[in-house]
Amino acid sequence: MKPVQFNNTVLRDGHQSLAATRMTTAQMLPAAAILDGMGFAGLETWGGATIDSCLRFLGENPFDRLRTLKAAAPRTPQLMLLRGQNIVQYTSFPDDVVEAFVRADAAAGQDIFRVFDALNDTRNLATAIKTVKACGKHARGEICYTTSPVHTVEAFVKMGVELREMGCDSIGIKDMSGVIAPRIAHDLVTQLRARVGLPITLHTHDTAGLGAAAYLAAIDAGVDLVETSIAPFANGTAQPDTLRMLALLEGHPRQPDYDRKKLAELREYFTGVYKELGKFTSPDNERVDSDTLIYQVPGGMLSNFRNQLKEQNMADKFDAVMAEIFHVREALGWIPLVTPTSQIVGTQAMLNVKFGRWKTIAPAAADIALNKYGRPPGVVSPELIKLIADRTGQKPIEGRPADALAPRMPQLRAELTAKGLPTDDEACVLHAMFPQEFAKLHAPKAPAAPAPVVVPSAVPPAPAAAPTPAYGPGAHRYRLTIAGRTTEAVVEEV
Ligand code: CO
Repeated sequence: MKPVQFNNTVLRDGHQSLAATRMTTAQMLPAAAILDGMGFAGLETWGGATIDSCLRFLGENPFDRLRTLKAAAPRTPQLMLLRGQNIVQYTSFPDDVVEAFVRADAAAGQDIFRVFDALNDTRNLATAIKTVKACGKHARGEICYTTSPVHTVEAFVKMGVELREMGCDSIGIKDMSGVIAPRIAHDLVTQLRARVGLPITLHTHDTAGLGAAAYLAAIDAGVDLVETSIAPFANGTAQPDTLRMLALLEGHPRQPDYDRKKLAELREYFTGVYKELGKFTSPDNERVDSDTLIYQVPGGMLSNFRNQLKEQNMADKFDAVMAEIFHVREALGWIPLVTPTSQIVGTQAMLNVKFGRWKTIAPAAADIALNKYGRPPGVVSPELIKLIADRTGQKPIEGRPADALAPRMPQLRAELTAKGLPTDDEACVLHAMFPQEFAKLHAPKAPAAPAPVVVPSAVPPAPAAAPTPAYGPGAHRYRLTIAGRTTEAVVEEV
């Protein structure tokens, strides 16, 4: 039997899940060369929230980070997490911007692209997958795992077959909430192997304490790869620790061979980094949280949600809002909860509890019902569609959302030229997604300016001129941080 292989996530998901994505390139570098020599099948180093964090909080050019890490770890393929048509943002971008992003990333050295869509709408993956293949790189099509009446093993396997037909080199099961039960993982891997025939990776989180057991069951079923991190950037809301996984596989015919002494040294090194990032870590994220299983929402979303409800003077409404999340998901066609849908569903559930069910509809929630993010996996409530039509005159769209978007690259280049900034593809795609932060990166640096003080909650300070208005008639602004991401909904009462 072939040993199972590990990808290591400590340089991306590990610190995104446990330290608000704040690990700097400088903190990564001493470990990168050691990780490179250990025989990991891949190192996840980029994508997800890292680009945002580099620009917004760390003053780093994310493409420079990738080039630096490639130079430090040239032997091991590096992975990134790509939100399909959303790239690494929360809204859809036109095809030409998605293509330019993938091309620029491939040129900077990216090897494996984990491409997913929050709704599992494969139309939102097509452009990214096609471009990855055109660049001669590895496309790993991700199936977002969630639980609902419409999310059956059969439906996931059907999506796997579709991803193979779209040209993916391998399939990833992306269990962002850590809710896949070991027996289901076993079943899903068995079926995917039989009917898709591509290499399969299981990616999970140990949020609810299921992660390592799910890996073990998937390994028994023949999964090719699982993803592990390195403590203390492991376990809890992150991936299971590599040493822990090796111990679980003791005596197993598929136990791989990784240098435990080096792993112990890396653990010691990362313990120092974890301390340095103490402002951004929390014991809440380190422990097993079975509430995730009760409420069926991601662990990171839960802990932030408690704080947000407190800020809105709704702490006593926690159970009601959690129950309402279930209703909002159902009404919106059982969409998976992952960036950006987790933020949107959370906001809407809070509005429903505050003002009454669907009395106030957040624009982004309406957009999901109108298929503007893609095709939800289940049926959107016809009553909700009618309500939105009555209030706004809008009807659900039929086609792929990005088909409605005009090409933007020429305009992006013109804007950068006018500002006297670089105009290559890297510059254009960063400017498309993070215009202010990108401009700041190129602003003349004040001599010896101290590093800005950043708040642990990842909530950017509210602009002084625009305080959150009190509840009452008119427009309301809601700011929520869920799973480390902040979303704002400005809601007009109708
Ligand atoms: Co993850």
